[in-house]
Amino acid sequence: MADQDVAGVALCEQYAVADVRAALQPLCGDLRVLEQPFLLRLANVQHLATEVHGQLAAGEAATHSALALAAALLCAGAAHADAPGAYVPGVGEIMGATQMRHTKLWFAGRAENWALARYELGEIKEGLGDVIAYHPVFKGAPVAALYDHYTGQPFRDLERAISKHDSRAFVRAYDSLTAACDDCHRAADQGQIVIGRPIANPYTDQDFAPGKQ
Ligand code: HEC
Repeated sequence: MADQDVAGVALCEQYAVADVRAALQPLCGDLRVLEQPFLLRLANVQHLATEVHGQLAAGEAATHSALALAAALLCAGAAHADAPGAYVPGVGEIMGATQMRHTKLWFAGRAENWALARYELGEIKEGLGDVIAYHPVFKGAPVAALYDHYTGQPFRDLERAISKHDSRAFVRAYDSLTAACDDCHRAADQGQIVIGRPIANPYTDQDFAPGKQ
């Protein structure tokens, strides 16, 4: 009993891992939380998960049955039961915001407002980063892998064009990003969504001219 090994799997939200660590620490002599989260595939759901390994401390083994350990873990989870559920935006919602920023990025670049273009590009990356963090697999499509594959180069080209204030390179890089949006849509079985260059600026309440900041 003294050498009983305790292995748990914690969901990857930071607080969940921290709670599991806090619940097991007093009972375990040696607790290891693996650095790298992995994708846990269950019958109908996939989650990022973190492996936690521990050994019951010698004195504790006698008094802590598997049931007591389960109770400690349940309490760790219950500590957050009354916290409002964290809001996780869906892929469609993030994409709606991405479309808005894709449009603004175009008009910022055409106006040579490089500060605004840099900002919009950063927001696009942040939004798509949330897609892969929250939904690495979406309706069976490995969007995290697709994201890296398609958007890496266009993002680098856009960054370079923006930092060099190069309008022609900007247009080329913008078109390659747009192609990447659609490559990913096709690869994710969403080929009905086709993005192009915007032809008119719908954001009449925003000044895109440079030099005001
Ligand atoms: C990693 C893959 C991927 C990339 C890259 C990607 N998308 Fe998407 N996009 C999707 C998926 C998957 C959906 C379907 C979401 C759903 O069904 O809720 C989608 C949906 C959309 C929609 C439809 C949203 C709606 O509700 O009408 C728009 C618009 C869109 N994407 C714009 C873009 C733009 C603009 C870019 C590039 C800047 C882009 N996407 C890049 C995967 C991607």
